[in-house]
Amino acid sequence: MKVAVLGAGKIGDAIARGVMRSSAVTKVYVTRRNLTPSRSSMGKWLGTRDNRAAVRASDVVFIAVKAADARHLLPEIANVTEGKLVISVMAAISLEKIHAVLPGARIVRAMPNVAASVGKAITAYSPGPGVRPQDLRVVRRLLATFGESLEVPEEMMDAVTALSGSGPAYIAILIDAMVSGALKVGLPRDIAFQLVTKTLTGTADLLREKGVHPAELRDLVTTPAGTTIAGIYELEKGAFRTSIMNAIEAATQAAARVSEKL
Ligand SMILES: NC(=O)c1ccc[n+]([C@@H]2O[C@H](COP(=O)([O-])OP(=O)(O)OC[C@H]3O[C@@H](n4cnc5c(N)ncnc54)[C@H](OP(=O)(O)O)[C@@H]3O)[C@@H](O)[C@H]2O)c1
Repeated sequence: MKVAVLGAGKIGDAIARGVMRSSAVTKVYVTRRNLTPSRSSMGKWLGTRDNRAAVRASDVVFIAVKAADARHLLPEIANVTEGKLVISVMAAISLEKIHAVLPGARIVRAMPNVAASVGKAITAYSPGPGVRPQDLRVVRRLLATFGESLEVPEEMMDAVTALSGSGPAYIAILIDAMVSGALKVGLPRDIAFQLVTKTLTGTADLLREKGVHPAELRDLVTTPAGTTIAGIYELEKGAFRTSIMNAIEAATQAAARVSEKL
């Protein structure tokens, strides 16, 4: 299978590196407007500025440009996408809008996150009209090269963008804040970082693997008059959970606004 990744920026680059690892993929055509020599060609990777040639040569096309750049890119590739499976990872651009410009393509909208660069993304995807079961098998196989995936109805995409698309930024802020707290009480930064990041992934693994409810886990580690409740009290005073809920809501509304504007 040959794959094109149009727009090898932060997420496109991670996608291209992921799909390249698949034994089913023989070539990855990777496009950018400004191509540096270090990003030209090596092994399966073929760097180019020519979007149309990349699409023509491929069976599956990822679109990973910013939503604002889609205005130029989509019309440019419109008449070479007939019969192609197209996976758009662009935020805020609906299946309907992409289909209006690429009517001959079978389109899947997907929202990965930046953890794709270490093969640990979670990607939600929604198939458009005409996408066949065998296309979805290909989509899942390609998405699996850079993490996990799950199918969702397209109406959920703004919320997904806010939650798992933007999520790494919120988690990074949480980690940074916990490391700062540790510095305040005298822990060296590198030790604090190691403790915090492993606590985060370990807790997430525990919740998922044991199917424990987060509130149950919180109660499990909160002893009367203990250390954890002293910390939780301060989090509640700072409206920690309300802030996070508001952040997800604000980001979802922002995604919907961008979508309407485009
Ligand atoms: N970053 C994330 O975590 C993330 C997660 C999920 C979804 N997304 C979505 O993915 C898209 C890209 O985001 P990003 O953060 O990766 O942005 P980015 O780093 O700015 O990457 C966009 C890339 O698109 C290239 N590009 C623009 N117009 C092009 C054209 N006509 N032909 C070929 N290449 C073109 C740019 O190339 P030049 O640099 O050469 O100009 C740039 O490298 C956005 O729609 C975003 O919503 C991003």
